[in-house]
Amino acid sequence: MIDRDVLALPGTPERDLLDEMDFARMPRHIAIIMDGNGRWAKQRGSPRVEGHRAGIASVREMVETCARLKLDALTLYAFSVENWKRPRFEIVTLMSLLKEYLNRELANLLKNDIRFRVVGRMNELDASVQKELSKGLAATSSCRGMTFNIALNYGGRTEIVDACRSLAHDVEAGRLAPEQIDEETLGSRLGTAGLPDPDLLIRTSGEMRVSNFLLWQIAYSEIWVTSTLWPDFRKLHLFEGILEFQKRERRYGGVIDGSREPESGEAAG
Ligand code: FPP
Repeated sequence: MIDRDVLALPGTPERDLLDEMDFARMPRHIAIIMDGNGRWAKQRGSPRVEGHRAGIASVREMVETCARLKLDALTLYAFSVENWKRPRFEIVTLMSLLKEYLNRELANLLKNDIRFRVVGRMNELDASVQKELSKGLAATSSCRGMTFNIALNYGGRTEIVDACRSLAHDVEAGRLAPEQIDEETLGSRLGTAGLPDPDLLIRTSGEMRVSNFLLWQIAYSEIWVTSTLWPDFRKLHLFEGILEFQKRERRYGGVIDGSREPESGEAAG
């Protein structure tokens, strides 16, 4: 049961949006490209890392709110395979923030029955980061509520390459015939195995790109881009995104009304 009063107090703008929501048509999985931390900091004349630090409050609010909305999964893009090109100080700060977040939030994740998972090449991260992540993974492994995925050292193409390699090893070892490889087998080798694909992909700070995020999994996701910068992104904005999602007609390449003829030039989608 979704508890509206816990999610938003009556009489608040958040509650007005929540009251418009159709709980029978909720996205099961929301994925977010958290963008705009650097711009947020620049607007305040602060170093970029201050934007990342402020972004932690948004992470906390999203995890808590999505769990209360009873989503199956929330995936946040925290660090891409391309992000290693950033200044060393920024990378070190991001990793410290991540460790700090896990340390502080683990008890909360457990209390809310949230299962923590990592998508991305975790083994290439610093040993101290791996240690903190492993602690979180082990501690929450039997949680049965929402899955909270952090995409770290993540790239959509890299993830597909790794899945292909794992399938190729099985073929080489005689455990798998090439004909047995289909969308399901490949999907089961991705970091998101066992989870529904994201229904809704949110990107903050206005950029119209998918930036190598969950390339396989977002094949049919609805995309919602907001100009709000990540450190300013709150429950209210999440609710706006979900309401927008609920207005969309999802056709998965088919048609909703069987009698309807496609408009000329209408794209497949
Ligand atoms: C993009 O903003 C943001 C990131 C690369 C990092 C996001 C990380 C956090 C919010 C903190 C750590 C995460 C967790 C899950 C604890 P940008 O720096 O590219 O912004 P810009 O485009 O304005 O420069």
